[in-house]
Amino acid sequence: MNQATAQRRLEELRREINRHDYLYYVLDNPEISDGEYDRLFRELLVLEEKFPELVTEDSPSMRVGGAVLAGFDTVEHRIPMLSLENAFTDQDLLDFEKRVIRYLHRDVEISYMAEPKLDGLAVELVYENGLLTIGSTRGDGRTGENITANLKTIQTIPLRLRGGKLPDRLEVRGEVFISIEGFRALNEQRLQNGENIFANPRNAAAGSLRQLDSKITAGRPLDFFAYGVGDPFALQVENHEQVLDILRERGFKVNELTRLCPDIRAAIDHFNFLADKRHGLEYEIDGMVVKVNSLDLQERLGSKARSPRWAVACKFPALQATTRLLDVEFNVGRTGAITPVALLDPVNVGGVRVSRATLHNEDEIIRKDLRIDDQVLVQRAGDVIPEVVKPIKEKRTGNEKPIAMPSRCPKCKSELVRKSGEAALRCVNIQCPAQRLRALIHFAGKSGLDIEGFGVRVLEQLFERNLVRSIPDLFELRREDLAELPGWGEKSAAKAVVALAKSKNPTLARLITALGIRYVGEVSAQLLESSYPSLDSLVKAERKDLEEIEGVGPQVAAGLVEFFANPSNREILTKLQNSGLRIKTAAPQDRAAQPLAGKVFLFTGALRSFSRSEAKNRVKSLGGRVSSALSRKVTHVVAGEKAGGKLAKAGDLGLAIINEEDFKAMIGS
Ligand code: IVH
Repeated sequence: MNQATAQRRLEELRREINRHDYLYYVLDNPEISDGEYDRLFRELLVLEEKFPELVTEDSPSMRVGGAVLAGFDTVEHRIPMLSLENAFTDQDLLDFEKRVIRYLHRDVEISYMAEPKLDGLAVELVYENGLLTIGSTRGDGRTGENITANLKTIQTIPLRLRGGKLPDRLEVRGEVFISIEGFRALNEQRLQNGENIFANPRNAAAGSLRQLDSKITAGRPLDFFAYGVGDPFALQVENHEQVLDILRERGFKVNELTRLCPDIRAAIDHFNFLADKRHGLEYEIDGMVVKVNSLDLQERLGSKARSPRWAVACKFPALQATTRLLDVEFNVGRTGAITPVALLDPVNVGGVRVSRATLHNEDEIIRKDLRIDDQVLVQRAGDVIPEVVKPIKEKRTGNEKPIAMPSRCPKCKSELVRKSGEAALRCVNIQCPAQRLRALIHFAGKSGLDIEGFGVRVLEQLFERNLVRSIPDLFELRREDLAELPGWGEKSAAKAVVALAKSKNPTLARLITALGIRYVGEVSAQLLESSYPSLDSLVKAERKDLEEIEGVGPQVAAGLVEFFANPSNREILTKLQNSGLRIKTAAPQDRAAQPLAGKVFLFTGALRSFSRSEAKNRVKSLGGRVSSALSRKVTHVVAGEKAGGKLAKAGDLGLAIINEEDFKAMIGS
């Protein structure tokens, strides 16, 4: 292919991929399958590799991250990024409105835009002639840090604005955040890798944006909502609502819970609506921002030293309260772990009645020095599970009693053990009914097969009546059995049976997650699925092979092997298959058709043309696997400069050794 043809094809590919990214990530409405998308992306990568001089700043390949920085440069914001004054009560909002009216000498109603206040990090994106050139943090408001490479990895940040003519320069502002689900998955992955976990989604977003290696950022589930521009007048519109419309048309996500409010009362209503709604959202919000809608009025109002007079942040009340710790109950989890749960004098925490809160484990109880009858501070954190923060020691009377950990399982009475290195006391009786019920609840629940209508209460009922004692029993349920149960009828029974049938075709990753194997969460299940397309091959996998999968640690590997070695677990799988459960395979022809399918690479020594992680990503994107441990499974050892001991060992094992040039040829580079 000559350069001119390549140029044309590249432009086409970029346009197409950017459009599909927009459809998928912003509109949540994809037009093509993942497989088709991957093909386009691969074609782009291969072409760009051949014609590096044709790579552009708005190429979707930029999203995978690039060179590692030594530090961040500073960027001056052309127009300062202000912060907001806070309001905590309805009265504070009414006072805000009074100030606005007094300032403007006006007694007509003023309309406002009310937007959820995202709890993430404010950033500025500079677009020059439609192209994203600089992205920065807010910093102190005047200067921030240049984090362009990191921001480019966020799929919901357009690299080029959609649509026609715009001002030569546009400064888009908004919030980078991580969804609650993304935060959970990220922490789970970190736990498995033995890394520190993030305390909340905000910290996770901040930590991810502050990476000097943008490839790390690219692997984090960051997202972006736009909420304004530096100079709205440049857009030649009259109000903030139109500014948001333009941002939406140009390819940004604008929060869908934003409302135009004809007066401040309507804004207060919207605040109450959001306060109700916040815990059902996929991301964390900590309040609502109210902005005067008219840009003329905004300009007349201007700003004080650090905050505009035309906007205010209404914060949700802190989700903390004090109450009395009445007693401690011990719950048995699905893996037998015993969790102490505080029974509290019921208290209202941020609008929700809380009567129980987790105490995590024995060490936490000791660390916090909690005692029965203590006055305690209770909090509902981002993930909505209430917890006890600390005792209020000043309020102690001397009659508080220490909390004793049980020595026997509260359900099956078998002796509890605490293995060294573990925080949890554990019931190791695999027949323990409490564990079995928990396993069922997990299997049918959101992180499992998500079987509609099989929530905690229904499963408890079925368990108590001996209709379902283990996972396979679920699929043996008959409509007649269900219809006769208290609270059930023909209709609900029929619905439940349909839901069961529907859930019989999970992906392998979903099934493994649902089985509740120790240490195996959604992230590792995905990794396992991409290396072992069938359940059979996974069941037979050996520990050392599993450990070789990038991102799968020894714990996960051991957890899996232990699980599948247990005859009763194997029996569960057989029974599930007998009742018609089938794994949905991920397009097998697709996988085999990939150029490096079936090949396992091991890198040793330094490569000249790539970083190690880029080389690994190339292999993976072409369907191959990467191993960090030497074994006979490795099909190609790529020897870079100064390759050491591994190279010698590879020779001893008789493995195929190739150099960087051979490798480049293999990946079409
Ligand atoms: S407007 C002058 N809108 O809240 C206007 N801010 O203290 C300044 N934030 O640093 C910001 N959601 O990180 C605005 N819809 C929203 C927002 C929002 C979250 C954050 C932003 C800013 C802080 C204000």
